[in-house]
Amino acid sequence: GNRYTGLIEKYRDRLPVSKDTRIISLGEGATPLIQLRNIPRELGKQADIYVKFEGLNPTGSFKDRGMTMAVTKAVEEGSRAIICASTGNTSASAAAYAARAGITCFVLIPDGKIALGKLAQAMIHGAVVIQIQGNFDAGMELVKQVAKEAPVTIVNSINPYRLQGQKTAAFEIIEELGRAPDYHCLPVGNAGNITAHWIGYCEYSSASGKNVTAACTFCQGQCAYAKGAVTGSRPKMIGYQAAGAAPFMRGAMVDNPETIATAIRIGHPQSWDQAWKVKEESGGWFDECTDEEILAVQKLLAEKEGVFCEPASATSVAGALRDIKSGKIPAGSQVVCTLTGHGLKDPDTAIKQSTGPLHKVKAELGAVKKTILDNLPR
Ligand code: F0G
Repeated sequence: GNRYTGLIEKYRDRLPVSKDTRIISLGEGATPLIQLRNIPRELGKQADIYVKFEGLNPTGSFKDRGMTMAVTKAVEEGSRAIICASTGNTSASAAAYAARAGITCFVLIPDGKIALGKLAQAMIHGAVVIQIQGNFDAGMELVKQVAKEAPVTIVNSINPYRLQGQKTAAFEIIEELGRAPDYHCLPVGNAGNITAHWIGYCEYSSASGKNVTAACTFCQGQCAYAKGAVTGSRPKMIGYQAAGAAPFMRGAMVDNPETIATAIRIGHPQSWDQAWKVKEESGGWFDECTDEEILAVQKLLAEKEGVFCEPASATSVAGALRDIKSGKIPAGSQVVCTLTGHGLKDPDTAIKQSTGPLHKVKAELGAVKKTILDNLPR
């Protein structure tokens, strides 16, 4: 049948797997590309804005795209344990795929600064959770060191299979739009994801016979790509960082990163060189958003579009809206913003910044009716 069984099966011919590889999958990928309707209308600028809602992956973030590949290859290579440092989403994903594979998962997370939902995920999936008295960057260094002294496979984005899995998000976007967008905006932490997207766009737009003629194994020749309807263009890649954790804006590593967007509270990006290359090759840029801007746009997306993403994810849309308003992204452009994680990951931040009134009333018809009549649209 045509049952969707995850991105490795779908893009098998473009990923480093063989026909004998045992695939560890939770049905990741195939996330919706949602066209924004209400925000562009209010913006007063003509723009075609889509959000790729990666929060709808199995563990609620884009990490699953990379993790299905990383864990599949770790198991294939005989590894019995994986390890990662994480601001929360990588650890949630690693824990789930390790559970699926039947192997052990170690996660190093920063003390405190991790969203509650993410911690719950690592714990319920049975990962060995090591909370360090330090931030993500410190955890990452420790992971690299300990992996030299213990039999564990690193599944952070320095594992090249991670980026191979994550590049498939670009494939999906091209297939849906029938072309690459003009601009692709992402929140940037370690810069693995922006690099992975660029790899994906480059492979798809490549004029080489391999990439142009290989039919998708899943669509069986039905997608825009397989029909040859894809143009050769690639998007300008724009990476937005949180202002308190913006090493790409400073041009140097940042030692004490701070932001409400804990997912991207990173000062020492692992894909530093790659990210600069992506910016140069694509003709894009980096910019930063304040915590206030990030939270305002998280709320805007939830209230005006019905899309609930986590704070870090809103950074892509916050930056894009600003650049569309200023004209830096020209009117009429087609823009894709990646929403990297689901809002349910971080319920505390969502509740704290919600101004919508919670009405406490007696369990009586009169009280309930009054509240309704008082709050009907005028
Ligand atoms: N958005 C979210 C929700 C993330 O969790 C991350 C990274 C990013 C954006 C940035 O992606 O690092 O590829 O530039 N989270 C990692 C983690 C660090 O541990 O979950 P990047």
